[in-house]
Amino acid sequence: MSNVKVANHKTGTSMYKAWLKYYRLENKELLTLYKQLLREVAVAEDSVITANAVNELKTGLYGLLGIKPVFSSELTGEAGLVIGTIEGSKEISGLLSADEKDSLGEEGFIIRFKTENNAGRLLVAGKTNKGLMYGVFNLLRLIQTETAPQALSRIENPVNQLRTINHWDNIDGSVERGYAGRSIFFKNNKITGNLSRINDYARMLAAAGINTIAINNVNVHEFETLLITDKYIKDVAKLNEIFRGYGIKLFLSINFASTLEIGNLETADPLDGNVRQWWKDKADYIYSHIPDFGGFLVKADSEGRPGPFTYGRTHADGANMLAEALKPHGGLVIWRCFVYNCQQDWRDRTIDRARAAYDHFMPLDGKFQDNVLLQIKNGPMDFQVREPVSPLIGSLKKTNQLLELQITQEYTGQQRHLCYLVPMWKEILDFDTYGNGKGTTVKKIISRDTFKNNYGGFAAVTNIGDDANWTGHQMAQANTYGYARLAWNPDLSSEEIAEEWIRRTYTNDSKVVDIIKGMLLGSWKAYENYTSPLGIGWMVNPNHHYGPNVDGYEYDKWGTYHRADHKGIGVDRTVKSGTGYAGQYHKEVAEVYESLEKCPEELLLFFHYVPYAYRLKSGETLLQYIYNTHFRGVEQVEELKQNWLGLKGKVEEDVFLHVLERLEGQLSHSKEWRDIINTYFLRKTGIPDELGRKIY
Ligand code: GCU
Repeated sequence: MSNVKVANHKTGTSMYKAWLKYYRLENKELLTLYKQLLREVAVAEDSVITANAVNELKTGLYGLLGIKPVFSSELTGEAGLVIGTIEGSKEISGLLSADEKDSLGEEGFIIRFKTENNAGRLLVAGKTNKGLMYGVFNLLRLIQTETAPQALSRIENPVNQLRTINHWDNIDGSVERGYAGRSIFFKNNKITGNLSRINDYARMLAAAGINTIAINNVNVHEFETLLITDKYIKDVAKLNEIFRGYGIKLFLSINFASTLEIGNLETADPLDGNVRQWWKDKADYIYSHIPDFGGFLVKADSEGRPGPFTYGRTHADGANMLAEALKPHGGLVIWRCFVYNCQQDWRDRTIDRARAAYDHFMPLDGKFQDNVLLQIKNGPMDFQVREPVSPLIGSLKKTNQLLELQITQEYTGQQRHLCYLVPMWKEILDFDTYGNGKGTTVKKIISRDTFKNNYGGFAAVTNIGDDANWTGHQMAQANTYGYARLAWNPDLSSEEIAEEWIRRTYTNDSKVVDIIKGMLLGSWKAYENYTSPLGIGWMVNPNHHYGPNVDGYEYDKWGTYHRADHKGIGVDRTVKSGTGYAGQYHKEVAEVYESLEKCPEELLLFFHYVPYAYRLKSGETLLQYIYNTHFRGVEQVEELKQNWLGLKGKVEEDVFLHVLERLEGQLSHSKEWRDIINTYFLRKTGIPDELGRKIY
């Protein structure tokens, strides 16, 4: 047992501020420079979003520099900052060249630094007030990370149009797959009164570039169905008002069977005239309360949720019916592709859950209305530590698409383990689907670069809850931040994002930055090492999905999904002899996965049944590789802990103790993983570790 005093993360205020800490610049030279430069700020226009940006600037500059600049409509001195929008001010428009104006999209910003008459002038502008707000947030980021004024100038537009966060929050206050306390939105079947916390949340999201949020769980139960009724709509509108002030559109997850549950109809058939009319009336009603409402997020015909299948209709019929209702108001339908039948007999070797999304949705390509987006989980299964990219991405060509990631660490340590997910997401984004020839990477598809659909972008299930530090494990904030930054610009590297987050959260001390960066960057691989090997996934306890249990997956009561026996393990998903899943990819990719030799080793067991004696490229047998990685994974966690111990006195004490406590827990839990997995394979094979290490 650990004798470390447990830091109470419910009380830490510095962790609450996350990446908006705005601690005083440590670099004295820059501090002096910026104090000079920013003593006066000119802003000549007014809107809620601009006012929020101005407030942020005040808070930020006071924290970073200890100054309260003079705000006026025009600069009186030589030095200063001018902020505004092209749309809102002739003066700003006049300061920008035609090229600069042309290159600014709806949410883009320009930051320009010029030295004139020995004084610096800084301009932050957007075409719209949203762009201006992003410009201000980015200016504060750049100052906090010690960027010199000469290096500030830039024009940036977000690469992705929708940058979405999904909450799986229930109205009773619980959070499905939540590991950071209760919901920040709901409590005891009411919408929370803590609006100042919601405001802080909106600031955090906007600061990192998020522009869309769905506030309730995709599994819409009885009470959540009522969110679109008089019982809750005014309170939803209050939340919307906060998010609107930060350029964030609000969506609700809806129950496909609402007409039955709250509509007094006897059907939810999407082709029934009364059902269609009900949804149109409902849309009118919602927009009368929330004129800029984003739209609906829908999970249908999956894991017990109702959907169009009940009536012999397709997902396109279901989604289009809702799309038609929302269209006059400019609303969107985001329809999830996580559709599979969980009640199947997996002993039947022709059944393969991995095939489901493609099998269901590929035949519907081109059949959705132009205000429908399909939201596709990154892999064909369910957010495992390692999965191939879903073959739907790159295959759908005439359909708006959102990539769905999971920030909440359901299968990656539940925010008790450190697991920085950005490197995993980078691999997904850079994966070449060959959907339109070589170079059709996932990031190009969802940004609409390749197929030029109407809409596209990112979605992710959030890891946020009402813990004072938002994310349970304070370092899990790096995943929230990293996701948002990648959605803004998927070309940022894992290293850059880690470094930014560390500098905004802890310090600019380069030694500390390097140590924490190393910890973050190595953590996903470490987690993979001590958990399930080579893409096989699962191996978790049923229902809650925490901790090792090789045969534990709840939808597989026979414990056969991994196909392990005394000779080998892995699922044959080849076309030649298996489930045929590998054939769902484009030829160039399919060939690689189909072949035992060419298949990337980290996905070997996802695609092939492999004998334990099979030699990997390293020369190790498959069995020895499993033993080795499990021992190695635990050592890596030990290293994480040692690195962190070296930071005593260099990060705030409460943060130090809190993270240390989590790392100690991770260390003992990684040993449990190692021992259970290795023992399982020792028992299956009877072959001991070549290095003679003790396996329990
Ligand atoms: C996973 C998760 C569920 C969730 C589902 C989904 O299966 O365990 O809690 O509802 O994904 O994405 O809809």
